Amino acid sequence: MYTASAQTKKAPAKKAPAGKSSAADIAAGQDLISKSDCLTCHKLDVKIIGPAYKDVAAKYKPTDANVALLAKKVLEGGSGVWGAVPMSAHPNLSTADAKKMVRYILSVK
Ligand code: HEC
Repeated sequence: MYTASAQTKKAPAKKAPAGKSSAADIAAGQDLISKSDCLTCHKLDVKIIGPAYKDVAAKYKPTDANVALLAKKVLEGGSGVWGAVPMSAHPNLSTADAKKMVRYILSVK
């Protein structure tokens, strides 16, 4: 006899697992970056004034701690990690937007 197993196992996965960024945040971050001045100093895969986003993504895992650290760096500017050239501060960005930008950067392969 045919027995249908009506299992509905899939729970909706709303939140990205720890150490991962949600697709929505990554897409929003990419959009924010395209509207800011980031791309005058950063390219995806070549170092210009700032490091290539691909190199930044290779250096940092997208953990909440790294995202918070790098978002602070974007807001406040600074130097010494990739060289002596400083990144300008971006005081007009919100922390939330800076975090989305960083989540996008850390997703670049
Ligand atoms: C005036 C040029 C310039 C602009 C504009 C700029 N950056 Fe940078 N960025 C740099 C430089 C230079 C560094 C390397 C700083 C260092 O060595 O500590 C850097 C580093 C970074 C890092 C890595 C920081 C670290 O500590 O490893 C991230 C992430 C980053 N930038 C994101 C952004 C985002 C997002 C924007 C736009 C909101 C932006 N940058 C705009 C020049 C710039």
